[in-house]
Amino acid sequence: MIDIASGHPKIDGYLDTQYESVRGMSSRFAAAICGHVVRRQSEQGIVGDIAEIGTFEGRFFIALALGLADGEHALGIDLFDWPNAGVLPRMLKHCERGGLSSDRFTAWKAHSGKMSVAEFRAKLKQPQVRFFHIDGEHAYDSLSKDLELAHAVMHPQGVIALDDMLHPGYPTLITAVIDYLKRYPEMVVMCIVDRQDIVAAAKFLICRNDAVALYEQDLMTTFARFHFISGADMLGHFTLVLTPQLGNVDVGWDDPA
Ligand SMILES: C[S@@+](CC[C@H](N)C(=O)[O-])C[C@H]1O[C@@H](n2cnc3c(N)ncnc32)[C@H](O)[C@@H]1O
Repeated sequence: MIDIASGHPKIDGYLDTQYESVRGMSSRFAAAICGHVVRRQSEQGIVGDIAEIGTFEGRFFIALALGLADGEHALGIDLFDWPNAGVLPRMLKHCERGGLSSDRFTAWKAHSGKMSVAEFRAKLKQPQVRFFHIDGEHAYDSLSKDLELAHAVMHPQGVIALDDMLHPGYPTLITAVIDYLKRYPEMVVMCIVDRQDIVAAAKFLICRNDAVALYEQDLMTTFARFHFISGADMLGHFTLVLTPQLGNVDVGWDDPA
C-alpha cells in the first residue's frame, strides 16, 4: 500500500481501515490527494457541498464526504442499477460503517444526463459545490453534459475532479475535456493525479485559472515525493503531475559515457 495521507483524521482513518474493502475503482492515492484538497478548501474558508456522479458503492464518495464541514452536505448521484439493485443498499451500509451519518448526505438515484441544473440545485444544502467528482458514463456526450452541469453549480474556487482520464479503455474521453476547456478558457487542469493501476486510472483536477494558486504550491509541497517535475503541457497551461510511481524517473541523469 502506498504511504500517503490527506491530513484529515476522519478521511485518513477511513482510507487506512475501510477504503480497499469498499468495492470501487478510484485509487487510494487519488482519494488521499483529493481528501487533502477538501481539507485545504476548509482551511481556506471555501464553503460548499460535495457532489459525485457515479457513486457506485461509495468508495470515493465516503472519503470526500468525511471532509465536510458543519452545514455542508454530500450529494451522490447514480443509476444504482449496476451490477444489480443491491448496489444502493450496499452503498448506504458502507456509509454507515464509514461513520458518515445519514443527515450528511443524499443518495440520488437518477440519470445525470436527464436532470436540469435547477433540479440539481434543489438537492443542494449550500448554494454551490466546492468539490465535484465526475465518474459516471465514460462517453463523449455524457461527460460533456456532466461537465456542463458541474460548471453551472461550482464555487468560483472549487475543484472538478474527472476520473479515468488517459485510461487505455477510454482513449477518446479526453476529447470531451479538451472541448470543455476550449469553451471555458478560464478553466485549467490544475493537477493530474496519475494512475495507480489499470483500474484505478488517472484523475484531472480542474479549477479556474485564478484559483490555481490556492492549490498548486500546497499540493507540490505536501506531496513533493510524488511530484513529476517535468509536469504536463495542457493547452498552454503548465500542469502539476503527481504520480505514485516516480521510482524509474530520474530527470537528472547523466549521459552514458
Ligand atoms: C466507475 S463506476 C464509479 C466508481 C466510483 N466513483 C468509485 O470511485 O469507486 C461508474 C458509475 O457510474 C454510474 N453511471 C453511469 N452512467 C450514469 C448516469 N448517466 N447517471 C448517473 N450515474 C451513472 C454507474 O451506474 C456506475 O455505478
